[in-house]
Parts: sequence; C-alpha cells; structure tokens
Amino acid sequence: MGKAIRLIFLMPLLVVVLLGFVLAGKGYGQFWNLPPRVPPHEFGTITIDRNSSAKGEKPVVFPHWSHRLKYTCRVCHFELEFEFKRNTTPITEQDNRNGLYCGKCHDGTTAFAHRREHCGKCHGGDKSALKKKFDRIWRKLPHSEYGNRIDWNKAIRINNPRYSIFLHEKPIKFMKTLNLRAELGRIPPVKFPHWEHVQLLDCSSCHPEIFNLKKKTTKHFSMDSILQGKFCGACHLNVAFPIDPCKRCHPEIRE
Ligand code: HEC
Ligand code: HEC
Ligand code: HEC
Ligand code: HEC
Ligand code: HEC
Ligand code: HEC
Repeated sequence: MGKAIRLIFLMPLLVVVLLGFVLAGKGYGQFWNLPPRVPPHEFGTITIDRNSSAKGEKPVVFPHWSHRLKYTCRVCHFELEFEFKRNTTPITEQDNRNGLYCGKCHDGTTAFAHRREHCGKCHGGDKSALKKKFDRIWRKLPHSEYGNRIDWNKAIRINNPRYSIFLHEKPIKFMKTLNLRAELGRIPPVKFPHWEHVQLLDCSSCHPEIFNLKKKTTKHFSMDSILQGKFCGACHLNVAFPIDPCKRCHPEIRE
C-alpha cells in the first residue's frame, strides 16, 4: 500500500480521535439532549386537560410560580393530594365546588370562587396570560439563570410560603446532606441537601416511591433516567430549577 493510500485510511480514525478530545474539552454537558428552554413565565406553568376539552371547556392552565410564592409544594402535593404528574389527579368540577383540590382555596374567601365569571381564569387555555403579572413580581425577587429565572431557595426566605394550611406544623429538622457518587465515570459527586427539600416537601414526596430510604440503594440512578422524569427529574425538569446548571447538583463539575 502506498503512503498516500494509508493516510486516506487513517484519516477517519484521526478525525474521530480529535473529535473525542474536542468534546471532552467542552465538558460533559454536550452529551445529553436537555429539554428545550421556555420563557421564564411559562416554566412550571402546566396545562391540565383530562376532561375539560371533552366537556366543552378550555383546558386548565395552572401556574406553579404564583402559587409557590404563597404555599410550599407539600400543601398541594401532600395535604391536598395532587399527584406529581400532570393529568393524573382525578379533579372534577364537582370536587372543586365541594372544597376539594383547587376548591380548597378557590372558595371565594382565600381565592376567587367557582362561579361563572371566574371559569375562564382557570379554563383559559393560554400559558402567556400571566406574563405581565409575572414580570412585575419577578423584578422584586432574587434571580437565577434558568427555569423561572428566580432563585427559589432565596425567594422562599423572603416570601415564607405556608408549610401547612391545616395545622401550625413546622418541618422536621432533618439536615443530612448526602454525597451521591455515580457508579460510572469520573463525574464529581452530587450534593443532595435534605434541608432545602424538607422545608418544602414531605418525606413521603420522595420516600419510598422515588428514592429508597437507604443511601446508594436506589437502582438505575443516572442522568438518562433523570432526564426521563425519574429521581431528581421528577421535579427538576419542570418545576424546580432544571438540569442545565450542572453545578447546582455537581458543585465541582467543570462547565
Ligand atoms: C380554580 C380553578 C378552576 C375554576 C375557577 C373552574 N375550574 Fe373547572 N376545572 C378545574 C380543574 C383543575 C379541572 C380538571 C381539569 C381536567 O382534568 O381537564 C376542572 C375540570 C372541569 C370540567 C371537566 C371535569 C368535569 O367535572 O366534568 C368541567 C366541565 C369544568 N371544570 C367546568 C367549570 C366551570 C363551568 C367553571 C366555572 C363555573 C369552572 N370549571 C371553574 C379548575 C377550575
Ligand atoms: C397550589 C397547588 C400546588 C403547589 C403549591 C404546587 N403544586 Fe405542583 N402541581 C399542582 C397541580 C394541580 C399539578 C397537576 C396535577 C395533575 O394534573 O394531576 C401539579 C403538578 C406538578 C408536577 C408535574 C408537572 C408535569 O409537567 O407533569 C410537578 C413536578 C410538580 N407539580 C412539582 C411541584 C413542586 C416541586 C412544588 C413546590 C415547589 C409544587 N409542585 C407546588 C399543584 C401545586
Ligand atoms: C392552597 C391554595 C390554592 C390552591 C389549592 C389552588 N390555588 Fe389558585 N390561587 C390561590 C391564591 C391565593 C390565588 C391568588 C388569588 C387572587 O388573586 O384572588 C390563586 C390564583 C390563581 C390563578 C390566577 C393567577 C394568579 O396567579 O393570580 C389561577 C389561574 C389559579 N389560581 C388556578 C388554580 C388551579 C387551576 C388550581 C387547582 C389545580 C388552583 N389554583 C389551586 C390559591 C390556591
Ligand atoms: C438535579 C440534580 C442534577 C443536575 C442539575 C445534574 N445532575 Fe448529573 N447526576 C445527578 C445524580 C443524582 C446522579 C447520580 C449520582 C449517583 O449515581 O449517585 C448524576 C449522575 C451524573 C453522571 C454520571 C452517571 C451518568 O448518568 O452518566 C454524569 C456524567 C452527570 N451526572 C453529568 C451531569 C451534567 C453534565 C449535568 C448538567 C448538564 C448534570 N449532571 C446535572 C444529579 C444531577
Ligand atoms: C426531594 C427528595 C427527598 C425528600 C423530600 C426526602 N429525602 Fe431522604 N433521601 C433522598 C435521597 C435522594 C436519598 C439517597 C437515596 C440513595 O442514595 O439511594 C435519601 C436518603 C435518605 C436516608 C438515608 C441516608 C443515608 O445516609 O443512608 C434517610 C434516613 C432519609 N433520606 C430520611 C429522610 C427524611 C426523614 C425525610 C423527611 C424529613 C426525607 N428523607 C425527605 C431524597 C429525599
Ligand atoms: C419532589 C421534588 C424534588 C425532587 C425529587 C428533588 N428535588 Fe431538589 N429541589 C426541589 C425544590 C422545589 C427545590 C427548591 C429550589 C427550586 O425550586 O429551584 C430544590 C432544591 C435543590 C437544591 C438546592 C439548590 C441550591 O442552589 O441551593 C439542590 C442542590 C437539589 N435540589 C438537588 C436535588 C438532587 C440532586 C435531587 C435528586 C437526588 C433532587 N434535588 C430531587 C425539589 C425536588
């Protein structure tokens, strides 16, 4: 084989090796398809439509950001029994009128009631309807780079959302921070702070359904499954800060 021909065969290999170096140099972030970014006011704003369209109403648009200024996650996801997945809670108009689900607060006292003139505030079908209100409130809150572009950890210290709507309960002082190390690869460990979560959530929001109650026993704990909405991805894809800022979970990662 002539020298020139040998080079032609070697070129593709060389390109692959070089590309490898370039990608490695860019850090780990390039390897996943992160969910598309949405405008700040639409992050965590979800459309609920199990039955509305079928019954001739517009779908319900529920803004997390405005509710989480006033209430912790556990008020709705523990005390009022909303599921952590859209379109899975059997909410009906009748239940709401009877003071369940949304109707626990939307009763005409705490918030607007289930009356004709208000149907469209929930059954509005438009995720942008609250943009102006968002922008006004956003200006007064501590900022971050992703999601709602609000640093919710700081915001809750200012806003002090209600921990319970029934009792004068306080969160259990469970402060344990875990260092979660990946089985594969040399990725810097994940710091999981219980306290930041326990102030907002109930133990049962995570244990035992999402995570085992014993460190390092949760199976298939990987970025792929997180990006499919499992484990940390149950909240950190669409309501809590998203996956883009690697450093917030892997503090020592090089970005
Ligand atoms: C505080 C928010 C809110 C208000 C106000 C509200 N709804 Fe709803 N409604 C919901 C939610 C949430 C669901 C569940 C959505 C789904 O799964 O499609 C729902 C579901 C429905 C459904 C479909 C399920 C069923 O029970 O048949 C109808 C019909 C409905 N609402 C009618 C109305 C009417 C009429 C009004 C005004 C009188 C109204 N709603 C006001 C939040 C609201
Ligand atoms: C005022 C009530 C309320 C509060 C407070 C609240 N949520 Fe929700 N959340 C809901 C409702 C309603 C749904 C939709 C449930 C359904 O359709 O079955 C939902 C759905 C979700 C989903 C699924 C989203 C999707 O796209 O499937 C996640 C994740 C979630 N909430 C996380 C949180 C977190 C984290 C907090 C606290 C920071 C929180 N929620 C606070 C009412 C609330
Ligand atoms: C724990 C109490 C609570 C629950 C549960 C709750 N809301 Fe609200 N909601 C409020 C309060 C308080 C406001 C502000 C009231 C006002 O301005 O009149 C509000 C306002 C809203 C608004 C107006 C937008 C805004 O931010 O001003 C919408 C839309 C809304 N809620 C939809 C819903 C839907 C849909 C559900 C059920 C899936 C629901 N809410 C459940 C307390 C609650
Ligand atoms: C919400 C928290 C969170 C964020 C944000 C996050 N990770 Fe992870 N990551 C984890 C957890 C948890 C594990 C599993 C740790 C274990 O195995 O104990 C993990 C594992 C990994 C692993 C090794 C296992 C695997 O799946 O390959 C890599 C590589 C990784 N993360 C890279 C990243 C990069 C790059 C980003 C930013 C784009 C990122 N992570 C953002 C929580 C997070
Ligand atoms: C946001 C989710 C979340 C919440 C809420 C949560 N935990 Fe955890 N917890 C985890 C994760 C993740 C692990 C590690 C699991 C693994 O590595 O397999 C863990 C592990 C543990 C462990 C084992 C620690 C060790 O060192 O082995 C205990 C004990 C625990 N949690 C108690 C609690 C208690 C008590 C509460 C409520 C006060 C609570 N957790 C709330 C996510 C959570
Ligand atoms: C049940 C919902 C839920 C799950 C599951 C969850 N988180 Fe969170 N996490 C939150 C909420 C809500 C916050 C408050 C900040 C926000 O909303 O952006 C938070 C805050 C944090 C913070 C504090 C950020 C800071 O800058 O101080 C870290 C770190 C974090 N989460 C990592 C993780 C990791 C790692 C996992 C998986 C092992 C995980 N979380 C699982 C809901 C959740």
